[in-house]
Amino acid sequence: MSASPESGPEYTRAEIVIDLSAIRRNVETLCEAVAAHTDGPAVMVVVKADGYGHGLYGSARAARAGGATWLGVAERGEALDLRGDGDTGRILAWLAMPGEDFGPLIEADVDVAAYSVAQLEEIAAAAEGVGKPALVHLKIDTGLSRGGAPMAQWKALVDAARTAEQAGHVRVAGIWSHLACSDQPDHPANAEQGEAFTAALEIADEAGLEPEVRHLANSAAALLHPESWYDLVRIGIAAYGLSPAPAVVSADELGLVPAMTVRARAALSKDIAVGDGVSYGHTYIAEKAMRVALVPLGYGDGIPRHASSTAPVQVRGMRSQVLGRVCMDQFVVEAPRGTVAGDEIVLFGPGADGEPTAQDWAEACGTISYEIVTRMGGVAGRAERRWTDDDGSLV
Ligand SMILES: Cc1ncc(COP(=O)(O)O)c(C=O)c1O
Repeated sequence: MSASPESGPEYTRAEIVIDLSAIRRNVETLCEAVAAHTDGPAVMVVVKADGYGHGLYGSARAARAGGATWLGVAERGEALDLRGDGDTGRILAWLAMPGEDFGPLIEADVDVAAYSVAQLEEIAAAAEGVGKPALVHLKIDTGLSRGGAPMAQWKALVDAARTAEQAGHVRVAGIWSHLACSDQPDHPANAEQGEAFTAALEIADEAGLEPEVRHLANSAAALLHPESWYDLVRIGIAAYGLSPAPAVVSADELGLVPAMTVRARAALSKDIAVGDGVSYGHTYIAEKAMRVALVPLGYGDGIPRHASSTAPVQVRGMRSQVLGRVCMDQFVVEAPRGTVAGDEIVLFGPGADGEPTAQDWAEACGTISYEIVTRMGGVAGRAERRWTDDDGSLV
């Protein structure tokens, strides 16, 4: 069993390697793309869901080093964990439950989102208890029909926020929304949502609100729709080196480098004969005599079962693919002659050495790259995760 210089220390089974320098450089590239250092919007890097599977702390630190002045997370625990890690920059946490205790977030200077008057009242009450104003981002639903106040309730939310602001319980730090179809540049919803956002901003303005940041854009909008930039863009998947709109533009064309590599050692390698059925259900029958390798990862480790007989891998420099069904702990791939137990099988990586990418896996599995990287590791957590910097060293 030998390790290439880039593969770092030996691993025995499987590993998920995160290149933090790739995240840092991607964020630098994205800051340049939106001119964040000149007149462009500030950049928020979204590190929810354990940094899209890349690790919360490493992703956050790399994002800050690359120029992110904001971090975005979905829920309170993620924000408080970042504070616990020593992050002192702006953080927005945007998905709270009824009855949420906003006190610790306000105490920790975490910006929070309000989707309704009821939620704003909870935030204001918590701020009163803590004795300092909450930094609130009012969310308008401009057409995604997901989070945020619908237009019919927007004025009520704005007025409640103004009242709470005058009482000293909140500061309206942001007004924001989220796009439904930003990865489809010609979709009419983009313009419709843009118009609705403008109307919502006017209502807020008339009520006397002066938000520090207005924000609408995710990665695809940041890269494809400059008119959606406003004061802040919220970048998720692109920071991890994957295209938010692969049908329009590739990660490579955007100058982004995928940060996650998943690889494993063959637990076994052997020859099978023409006509042999492979894995449960014999959904794959060998059309020729061939060598196969057994990969010690399965759906318990986050490998989609939809990868069965379709997802690409690289073994000894050769592209091959999954044969038959992905099981809970293992799956079989075609392997070049001479493959032995312990040889490395790369599931996906940056793509620079001919290995597949997470985008290739997404296409093979009928999903999006977001889901591929976020689920890697799975609940079983049996693959080692490690983080490297520029020179491949551990961090
Ligand atoms: C509210 C919000 N903003 C921004 C993002 C980042 O999106 P993307 O990863 O497409 O850049 C997300 C992620 O889903 C989100 O939920």
